[in-house]
Amino acid sequence: MTKIRPIHGGNLSWATAIACCPISSILDFSASINPLGIPKSAIATIQNNLTQLSNYPDPSYTNLRNILAQYHQINPDYILPGNGSAELLSYVGRELANTEVTYLLTPAFHDYIRALEAFHGKIQGFLIDFDPSLPPFKRGEFLRDLPASFTQCNFKNNSGFLLNNPHNPTGKLFKKEEIKKYLDQFALVVIDEAFMDFLPPDQDQSLISLVKDYPNLIILRSLTKFYAIPGLRIGYAITQPDRLKKWQKWRDPWSVNILADLVAQTVIKDQEFREKTLKWLPPTRLKLYQELGKIKGLYPFNSSANFLLVKTDISSLKLQEKLLKNYQILIRDCLSFPELGEHYFRIAVKLEDENNKLLNALNLLI
Ligand SMILES: Cc1ncc(COP(=O)(O)O)c(C=O)c1O
Repeated sequence: MTKIRPIHGGNLSWATAIACCPISSILDFSASINPLGIPKSAIATIQNNLTQLSNYPDPSYTNLRNILAQYHQINPDYILPGNGSAELLSYVGRELANTEVTYLLTPAFHDYIRALEAFHGKIQGFLIDFDPSLPPFKRGEFLRDLPASFTQCNFKNNSGFLLNNPHNPTGKLFKKEEIKKYLDQFALVVIDEAFMDFLPPDQDQSLISLVKDYPNLIILRSLTKFYAIPGLRIGYAITQPDRLKKWQKWRDPWSVNILADLVAQTVIKDQEFREKTLKWLPPTRLKLYQELGKIKGLYPFNSSANFLLVKTDISSLKLQEKLLKNYQILIRDCLSFPELGEHYFRIAVKLEDENNKLLNALNLLI
């Protein structure tokens, strides 16, 4: 049992120590994982390939790279699978640490700081403009320009830019054309698109199509959120081949295990699961956003992703503790985002009956 407050969502052993219940009783809103669960196609792949565990994975991950290449309409040499996008983030940290300074938007995902600090990289943050005092219809706009403090900055020579799009934890989405304007200004630009799969194709703002024209551009993608497989660990980087060859020399030859490799190949082709998810998310998220907004003292932000950031008049830590102890519900406090602190929390959008359990509990507690 661990009592140290976690800096990431989904830490169920910490939650059970507070709630005094088994892990299976926790209703976890803290990790932003697709609540439709692991796709059936993924489970079948695991069950049918257990004996493959006696083989090493293909160190060049050729089949997976070909499938991803077809999906993104890009050359397979531009793709490197990783043990979650978190593994690839470490190589990004190592690359960015060679620049004078890395600019990022804050609040920022804590692992960016971890990856940069591990290699003694310098960091400068720009606060994203999200204003909870705006009226709800304005607060609800999530397609954003980059903040003025960033766009008006005189960037240092040989600097890097690390952007999360859509942005965790606010759920804001930055326009591809807006980001594109800044690609020439940095030695290295990294766009973490861990949640981009949750956008329907007509709203997608991915920069993957620009990678072949910009040797200084790296895109990170995760398969763990959309396909509900964070325990399996699988993500990938898209950037020019020379950089990926270098990364391969930095790591062990079989970072991605054989089941993660095979499951990724399967789920990318699972059109039915993708459609089901894109059908579930927008109306469920809107309803949750609207219902949260009706609770006195809570101010949700609309989001383009599968989570909502909520400002709260009362301490989110007290709320988190009461939700855990009384209802075995886990929400994500925002203490790991120093710009947010104790008066914010983040919740995943889950299935409607699960969201209703959270709403009922909040209505009783607040
Ligand atoms: C913004 C962001 N990027 C990357 C990751 C890491 O994802 P993965 O499971 O692919 O390592 C996370 C996980 O929470 C995240 O929130």
